[in-house]
Amino acid sequence: MERLVVISNRTGDLENKTQTGGLAVGIVDALRSRGGMWVGWNGEVGRESKASRKTYDNVISLTMPLSEEEHEQYYLGFANKVLWPAFHYRLDLMDHRTEFVDRYAAVNRKFADMTCPHLREDDLIWIHDYHLIPLAAEFRQRDCRQKIGFFLHIPFPSADVFSAIPYHDWLRECFLQFDLIGLQTKNDVQNFCRYLREHSDVEFITSNTVRWHDQVITIADFPIGIDVQQFAEMAHQDDDTIELERMRRTVLKRFQIISADRLDYSKGLPQRMKAFRKFLEDCPEYQGRAEYLQIASPSREDVSAYADIRAELEGLTGAVNGKFADFNWAPIQYINRNIPREQLAQLFRCSLVGLITPLRDGMNLVAKEYVAAQDDKDPGILILSKFAGAAEELDQAIIVNPYDIHDVAQALKRAAVMSMDERRERHRSLLKQVTGNDANQWKDNYLAALQSAGTSGELKK
Ligand code: G6P
Repeated sequence: MERLVVISNRTGDLENKTQTGGLAVGIVDALRSRGGMWVGWNGEVGRESKASRKTYDNVISLTMPLSEEEHEQYYLGFANKVLWPAFHYRLDLMDHRTEFVDRYAAVNRKFADMTCPHLREDDLIWIHDYHLIPLAAEFRQRDCRQKIGFFLHIPFPSADVFSAIPYHDWLRECFLQFDLIGLQTKNDVQNFCRYLREHSDVEFITSNTVRWHDQVITIADFPIGIDVQQFAEMAHQDDDTIELERMRRTVLKRFQIISADRLDYSKGLPQRMKAFRKFLEDCPEYQGRAEYLQIASPSREDVSAYADIRAELEGLTGAVNGKFADFNWAPIQYINRNIPREQLAQLFRCSLVGLITPLRDGMNLVAKEYVAAQDDKDPGILILSKFAGAAEELDQAIIVNPYDIHDVAQALKRAAVMSMDERRERHRSLLKQVTGNDANQWKDNYLAALQSAGTSGELKK
């Protein structure tokens, strides 16, 4: 079996047995079974830019720090002030400067320089996410003939939006150096193919396979999954706390709602809080009983759009609590820090509603984790944005338009009175879906497609 070389902006933790998140679970498993290498940024920012190489059994970890300029212009700059907002349909938040794109290209060159000397002829190369779109082109220029696949974890926007990104022509040329372009959803694949039809001369061999010079490129959807069993086990660890919460639900008639997100403007947090406020206004019988717990982990705080959204949320939480709270009850509990995954899993299990309403999201693994955490006797209800990639698979959730505050408030009302039979029926179907396409399945499907993709061996111009 070919060795696997994974390259991503951040690398996973190869030291730990238990991995968090779908990406790490699937990838560590594949690396351990095939042997290989994981290359990326070590998370440090400083002057020293020497790569470090560590070996864990049959897996090598090759990492490097970023310099201050690289962090500022490549990571915070082109990746997170240009590509991230644009791919999430927020062209208004795009903040481009030419030094950003130059540094983005330079860091990709550096990743290629660091990796190339360690490559073997029959390695399978798997590159992840929007930070590293030009990396295959860099490898091809260094005469690498291995199969190179890409997986985009975030949405691919509509053709018009993508074409508004400065340097989209260059990004397109970079994309066309991969053998396989993996996207999260069918909708993303349609967007990508439509963009190619409208903005390039590629020849379409099938609806999702194109020829460009002498390269054949396949574009396909591989919806990412989670390690369902691991998450369910974490959710079922502390039964005493869970029983207590359940009693609160049945005896005190508490209506527990939970959301957990990175604090990002793409997650629709202000709209969600406004919808909850509307619910309290429309259904006063839930005042004193509804409890909305929002966990928002800090993220990319050096980017001003993130500081703005944080200030907005703090204002809204204060306003809603100030208006509705009583001496022994506050409607919103807002936590702006990371909390351990075990605790999160248990909180998911004891909340009647998982409220996941991003304005745009590649997949949203929290939605899948919420489903995995429920028990089938008394399962909670998932309310999910139609703009989360997960909505393509999880159609038995209550699907909402996150921009429509009335629609989300109505969904909360519906969840509050949903019969146990309907809850169980929906949950059965959701769990089947989440289990049927877990992290391992995702990785197996992707690698099988990469092995049979492309006609690499020829240098592309
Ligand atoms: C998203 C991206 C990932 C990224 C993660 C955390 O899920 O798709 O590539 O690693 O956010 O963001 P950060 O900027 O902290 O790496």
